[in-house]
Amino acid sequence: MSGKTFYVTTPIYYVNDIPHIGHVYTTVAADVIARYMRSTGKTVMFLTGTDEHGQKVEQAARERGLSPQDHCDEMVVRFQQLWRRFNISNDDFIRTTEERHIKVVQHFLQTLHDSGDIYQSTYSGWYCVPDERFWTQKDLQDGSCPDCGREVVQIEESNYFFRMGKFQDWLIRHIEENPHFIRPETRRNEMLGFLRQPLDDLCISRPKSRLHWGVEIPFDTNYVTYVWFDALINYVTAPGYTAEDDRFHALWENCTHLIGKDILTTHTIYWPTMLKGMNLNPPWRVFAHGWWTVEGRKMSKSLRNVVEPNLLLDEYGADSVRYFILREVPFGLDGDFSHAALVGRINSDLANDLGNLLQRSHGMLEKYRAGVIPPQPGPNDMGDHTRVLLEHSSRTVEELKSCMEDLAFDRALKSIWGFIGAANKYIDSAAPWTLSREGKDTKLDSVLYSLFEAIRRVAVMITPFMPETGQKMFRQLGLAGKKELTLMTSLEEWGGLPGGTRTFKGPALFPRIEKTSASPEIPDGKKEELDMDDNLIGIDEFAKVQLVAGRVIEAESVPESKKLIRLVVDTGEQRQLVAGIAENYSPEDLVNKRIAVVVNLEPATLMGIESRGMLLAAEDDNGIHIVTFDEEVKPGTRIK
Ligand code: MSP
Repeated sequence: MSGKTFYVTTPIYYVNDIPHIGHVYTTVAADVIARYMRSTGKTVMFLTGTDEHGQKVEQAARERGLSPQDHCDEMVVRFQQLWRRFNISNDDFIRTTEERHIKVVQHFLQTLHDSGDIYQSTYSGWYCVPDERFWTQKDLQDGSCPDCGREVVQIEESNYFFRMGKFQDWLIRHIEENPHFIRPETRRNEMLGFLRQPLDDLCISRPKSRLHWGVEIPFDTNYVTYVWFDALINYVTAPGYTAEDDRFHALWENCTHLIGKDILTTHTIYWPTMLKGMNLNPPWRVFAHGWWTVEGRKMSKSLRNVVEPNLLLDEYGADSVRYFILREVPFGLDGDFSHAALVGRINSDLANDLGNLLQRSHGMLEKYRAGVIPPQPGPNDMGDHTRVLLEHSSRTVEELKSCMEDLAFDRALKSIWGFIGAANKYIDSAAPWTLSREGKDTKLDSVLYSLFEAIRRVAVMITPFMPETGQKMFRQLGLAGKKELTLMTSLEEWGGLPGGTRTFKGPALFPRIEKTSASPEIPDGKKEELDMDDNLIGIDEFAKVQLVAGRVIEAESVPESKKLIRLVVDTGEQRQLVAGIAENYSPEDLVNKRIAVVVNLEPATLMGIESRGMLLAAEDDNGIHIVTFDEEVKPGTRIK
C-alpha cells in the first residue's frame, strides 16, 4: 500500500435474505477504516453493494412470486436503509444487475476467451445446488458438500472453464512474497496449505436450461455466468476499470477487501487468478474476519430475531452497537453476540469511563471558568501530571495508527480507552478543586486546558468508530464547523483546541442501561423457555387455535419451488395444505404420516396454491421436524 489513496470494500451481499449481524459487522468495520483513513488526509473510496444474480436469488424471487429483478429492487432497499441508520459512509453502492457492471463482466469473459484462458469442455462430477459449486470426488466430505455439508448431485454437462490451474505457481509465489496479501496469518497459511493440492480449472458458466438469472456469456448465449465470477468483478467495476484512467489504478493498488472467513477461497484463489489473466494485479490485502454466534449458539433463522439489526438500533443506537462489535472480539477471530455483554460494555466503557470524564470535566469548567476554555499554557506552566498526560496522548496516537494499519480495531479501542482512563486519573491527581480553593489560577487554567485538549483528542480518535458521539462531543467543545480540529491530522502537535472557546455541557451521552426487555441475560440454551415466560397467555386464548389430528393422504412437490410441498390431509374432512418443508422431507416420506394441523387459520395462497391450515413443526439447526403422534389417532380429533 502506498501513497495517499485508500480503497476498501465489503463483500456484496446476497439479496436472497434480509441483512443480519454478519453483514453489519463487515460493513461497520469497513466504515470505520474508511472514516479513519479520510481523517488522516487520504483520498478514500469505500464500496459496498449487493450480489443479485445466481440461483439463490432466482429461487428466493420465485418463492415470493416475483420476477428476480423486482425481488432485487425490493430487497436492496433493506440494505441501503440499514446502512443509512448505521451511518455508513460508503462512496458508492454497486448492484451486480447494473449495466455498468454487466459490461465489465462481459469484457472479462470476452478478453479471457480471446486469450485462450476460457475454454469449453464437458464437466462431469458433483454439484452442490444451494452453494452453486462443483466438487470433485476427493473434495467431498462423507459424500456431502465440504462447505455446507448438504447433499450433492451428480451432473454431466458442457460448460466453460477458466484456466485457473495454470496460475497456481504464480499465486503461491505471490502469497509467499507478499505477507500483507492474506490476513490474518492463519488464513494465509490455510490458503498456502490449500494450494499444496493441484489447482483445478474453474467452471464459470451455467446452462440457461438450469439457470436464467445471470450475466449472459457474450460468446455463447446459451449460458449465463457463474455467480462468483460475476460478483468478484464488482470490485473493479465501481472504481472505473476499463475507463483506464489514473483514478482506477491509484485505487486498485491500495485495495483492501474485508470479507468473512467463509469466502476466503473465492477472494484469494479465484479472484487473483482472474485478475492475473486480465493483466491486473491482485488486491493489496484481503482480510478475513471471524464469525459471530448469538447467545452462544450458531446463528440460525430462528435466532436472527434476537439480533435483528434494526431492533438493535432501536434499542441501543448505532454508536453503541458499532463500538461493541469492534471492541468485543479481535477482528479475525470468532465471537459471541449477547445482549448482556453489549449492555455490560455500554455501562462500563461508555456510560462510566467516557461519560464520567465528560460530565466531570464540563461540570468543573462551568463552575470554575463559566464554560470557557482557558488560554493554552506555555511549557513552563505544565506540571508533572500534565506531562504524563501528554506523553500518554502521543503514545495513544501512535498505537492507534499502527492498530488501524493492521485492522486491529479491538486493540485500537483498548488503547483509546486507556487514554480515557488516564484523563480520568489526571483529574484525580491534578485535583482542580484544590487549585481553585488555594487560588492557584494559572495552574487551574493549565489543568483545565489540558483536560479539554485531551477530550478533543478522544473525540477525534473515536469519531471513526462512533461518528454520532464524536459529533456530539465536538458540539459540546464548541468546535462545530471547525473541521480541521476534528481530524487525525490535528493530533500531530498537542494544543489544537483554541483558548477562549465557549463549551456546552449538554446531557449525558450514554445513560446507564438498566436491564430492559431487549437485554435479557439468557442462560445457555434457555432462550425458548424464557420467551415463553415473557409471553404467557390464558387457556381461553389458546382455545381459539383449533388444532386437530390429521393423516396425510397425498403429497407432491410444488413445481419450481425448493421449499414447498402440497399436501392433502384428512382432518375429519379432506383439506389442502401447502408447507415449506421440502428441504427436509420428500413427498413419499409424508404419505400416511399422522400430523397436527391448525384448521382455523385464514387461507393463504402460496405459489398460486391455496393452503387451508398449517401443520405444526419445529425448526432447529438440523432443519425442520414435523410434530407427529406416538400412536394412531382418529383424523379430526381435537388437540387440547
Ligand atoms: N454474495 C457473496 C459475497 C460476494 S463478494 C464478491 C456472499 N454474500 S452473503 O450475503 O452470503 O455473505 C456476506 C458476508 O456475511 C460474508 O462475508 C460472510 O462471511 C458474512 N457472514 C454471514 N454470517 C456471518 C456471521 N454469523 N458472522 C459474521 N459474518 C458472517 O457471501
